[in-house]
Amino acid sequence: MTIDTDDTQPRHFLDVDDLSEEELFAVLDRADEYKRAVEAGEDHADLSGQTLGMLFQKASTRTRVSFETGMTQLGGHAIFLGEDDIQLGRGEPLKDTSRALSRYVDAVMARVFKHENIEVLAEYSSVPIVNGLTDDAHPCQTLADLLTIREHEDGLEDVSAAWIGDGNNVAQSFALGCALTGVDLTIATPEGYEVDDAVLERARELGGDPTATTDPVDAVTDADIIYTDVWISMGQEDERDVRMDDFAGFQVSSDLLEHAPEASVMHCLPAHRGEEITDDVIEGERSVVFDQAENRLHAQKALLSWLLE
Ligand code: CP
Ligand code: NVA
Repeated sequence: MTIDTDDTQPRHFLDVDDLSEEELFAVLDRADEYKRAVEAGEDHADLSGQTLGMLFQKASTRTRVSFETGMTQLGGHAIFLGEDDIQLGRGEPLKDTSRALSRYVDAVMARVFKHENIEVLAEYSSVPIVNGLTDDAHPCQTLADLLTIREHEDGLEDVSAAWIGDGNNVAQSFALGCALTGVDLTIATPEGYEVDDAVLERARELGGDPTATTDPVDAVTDADIIYTDVWISMGQEDERDVRMDDFAGFQVSSDLLEHAPEASVMHCLPAHRGEEITDDVIEGERSVVFDQAENRLHAQKALLSWLLE
């Protein structure tokens, strides 16, 4: 019998386009099922006896808690591995960490600084690696975002979204997710903070046609979704003064919302009120930010059970 060696390799989820369009929709549909199961109080211990390692080089509230809770609800177990609690913090190479973890756990979710670091984890892992955020990408966030848009817009067809602010990790994965699902996207950033050209090119290869602009009003006019994130991401704290100047005019405020009377407002959280978004907008009736946060749980459970089945 011929063994197809590709079948012996684990599937990793380093960015949204590691899934095909069909696979992405399958994960979203499974997330809907898990959400219904939680609401109905139905048992869904699909990962009974399985363990997720959760490696963190950066802080987290939502990612950490939603993955750990998700594994509990699926009948499995999750182990928090803070960088400074394991030998990685004392200089053990990532490739050794990855190979050792592979011998114990069924999957690893990792939040690291450089995107290349998650690629090293994946290269040396014999179990699926899930990107829980890198400097360049946040694909688990995108799964929850698409689930949220689908719920609030009654589908993903004919939806137009506007990204306002930094062309950062969240924006880049969102651009790929919009491209895969047919969501029309306009990205408004100050000059010098654009989404990487290579990411825009990948989005186009997926069939998307993201528009880039430096005009937030242009971007949000008649949009269905307005999405923003912090101006200073983890690891960029030294750039605070420059960034505060450069992002002036990119705040999601009630004035900006006047140009999109029907739009829902999204934010991956944590939010910095008074910087990228005003308090009245994030607390307002058009804000769906806590639906997004909840959907992290359902989307990631779906991703894990799909990767591990
Ligand atoms: N949105 C998000 O990833 O939140 P945390 O940093 O709290 O995990
Ligand atoms: N862009 C933010 C997202 C946090 C979830 C950061 O990287 O800090």
